[in-house]
Amino acid sequence: MEICNNYLNEDSFLKIAHKYVDVFKNSEVALWGKGKQINVLLKYCKDLNIKYIIDKNAALSGKTKICNKEFDVFSPQKLLQDKDKGIKIIVMLAGSDYEDISEELFKMGFNNNDFCCAYDYVVAYNIINNNKLVVPNLELIVTTVCTLKCKNCIAKIPYFDKSKIFHRPFEKLKTEIDNIFNKFDYIGRFQLATGEVLLHPELPKIIEYVALNYKDKYDHFTFVTNGTIVPNDEKLSYISKYIDFIQISPYFNEELKGLLKVDKLIEKFKKYQISYLYGHYATGRELPKWNDIGDMVTNQNRSNEENIRIYQKCLMNVCKCISDNLIYPCTAACYSALKGDNCQDTNINNRDFVSVNSTKMDIARYYLKSSNCDFPLICDRCLGIGPTINKILVPAAEQIK
Ligand SMILES: C[S@@+](CC[C@H](N)C(=O)[O-])C[C@H]1O[C@@H](n2cnc3c(N)ncnc32)[C@H](O)[C@@H]1O
Ligand code: SF4
Repeated sequence: MEICNNYLNEDSFLKIAHKYVDVFKNSEVALWGKGKQINVLLKYCKDLNIKYIIDKNAALSGKTKICNKEFDVFSPQKLLQDKDKGIKIIVMLAGSDYEDISEELFKMGFNNNDFCCAYDYVVAYNIINNNKLVVPNLELIVTTVCTLKCKNCIAKIPYFDKSKIFHRPFEKLKTEIDNIFNKFDYIGRFQLATGEVLLHPELPKIIEYVALNYKDKYDHFTFVTNGTIVPNDEKLSYISKYIDFIQISPYFNEELKGLLKVDKLIEKFKKYQISYLYGHYATGRELPKWNDIGDMVTNQNRSNEENIRIYQKCLMNVCKCISDNLIYPCTAACYSALKGDNCQDTNINNRDFVSVNSTKMDIARYYLKSSNCDFPLICDRCLGIGPTINKILVPAAEQIK
């Protein structure tokens, strides 16, 4: 069941959102998958009647304990047994993983009203029931400085003017962090973004400030590194104390051999007991190929319908990104604004982002893609990420010569 995909005024949004929330609240529910968002769902959608968890991996069947509650874990076959009893399914994965599971559910005879995505559900449930802003994720830009020059960097960092390459100062970030957590009641994954976060000289102050002041307002605090920097002992001890885990990007290109220090980095992470994932955040799979997202400047002149489709299916906009108190649909849109490519375009500026000073309802609707625009205009300048919308694959982290 989708809540998004419409240009809606607030009254019709509320009507649709209430219906969407109630369908799952008033039914027995199975959760498909045990992704990290499950903690947010269990904590912030308390009156859901969760019967069990579905996992395709038969080896995981049995019992599992999450947030001090014990759940039975079954294979998808169990859903067929409970289909006639009206079981509803909340899928704990987003993006193309959600698409894949939707396909399976359709094949099993479930229809669109029988399942939804947890990433949307937690937002809708909390804004409708408690006027709380609870979201799956948010990325805060802390730097545009990087050690590499990836030709197809999603953030276009190698193409920034020198004047726009800098670490955002802690004092400025501090105010923005306060603004974020004064507005958001809970964030599943709070991520520092990038360039290369480990280069930021004030990283210890930033992560300590977030963790000491707002630990109860997020589930996990994390960032991604390209594996070229081995931080000093001061940084490592702060990371160890306050960061929940770090993702090391899986770059294996020959041309990076002299630059990557992943072995040394992992050795240090082990020494400091820092959790890390050497691979993709959601799946742990290697990412040998990237999508080429285009130059983010040239309009593709697609139809509105096609842009809406791209916006709905793009994997990038699963994670919202904030810079200078403005929330953008994705990392690429945020960096495009920082780079200044589209800053003269008042259409884009008036429509594509939402301020952290807006109401909780407006921000929730932005997350649900149900605000007063059916797609951000920047989408027409982007080729998007993900198998269903972009077939142009390029080697990950290929360097500009
Ligand atoms: C912009 S990078 C910044 C973090 C760090 N500098 C790095 O490269 O790991 C954040 C993530 O986006 C991924 N990424 C960058 N460009 C991409 C693209 N065109 N398609 C898919 N993923 C991309 C990187 O592999 C990394 O995991
Ligand atoms: S993708 Fe490459 S250029 Fe872009 S931020 Fe990461 S390492 Fe730097």
